[in-house]
Amino acid sequence: MNIGIIVYSHSGNTLSVAQRLEKAMTAAGHTVTIERVEPVNDDPNSNAPVQLKSAPDIRPYDAVVIASPVHAFSLPRIMKLYLSQISDMTGKKVSCFVTQHLKQSWLGGSRTVRQIQSACRAKGAEIMSSGIVHWSAATRQDQIDDVVRRLSAF
Ligand SMILES: Cc1cc2nc3c(=O)[nH]c(=O)nc-3n(C[C@H](O)[C@H](O)[C@H](O)COP(=O)(O)O)c2cc1C
Repeated sequence: MNIGIIVYSHSGNTLSVAQRLEKAMTAAGHTVTIERVEPVNDDPNSNAPVQLKSAPDIRPYDAVVIASPVHAFSLPRIMKLYLSQISDMTGKKVSCFVTQHLKQSWLGGSRTVRQIQSACRAKGAEIMSSGIVHWSAATRQDQIDDVVRRLSAF
């Protein structure tokens, strides 16, 4: 399959997991491309309206992974904007994962996954796997391994 991993990553955590996933998917025989969602203003604490500097086109891909950090217990504004503008996803398989600092999924991780899934479902996507990596957890590496294993089995 031709798979796009679409990543927003402010400080590199989410991107590093995406790179692990890319390797695993490539080893499984898929063609995989990481593409970055980038804001014009990269200050995540700014209250100014968000503008997209880079908004990857998902149309070439059979399957897409959406990857994002959790900001303020929620999907970052940049990803809300990107997913609201994304093209039709009918017929595409979509998985997602998020990274968050805190150790409990109810402190933003689960909500952020639901926000991604509902935005993609509204565009017609077939929702597949999801995962959460808790960056401050002692088991972080195990969580990354689990996300990579489950999401690479598209
Ligand atoms: C503005 C901002 C808000 C954040 N809010 C949360 C939060 O609500 N819950 C949480 O667990 N982590 C929160 N974090 C931490 C990030 O989700 C975490 O460090 C993530 O792994 C960063 O991913 P990145 O390096 O790909 O940007 C926040 C970080 C920033 C910059």
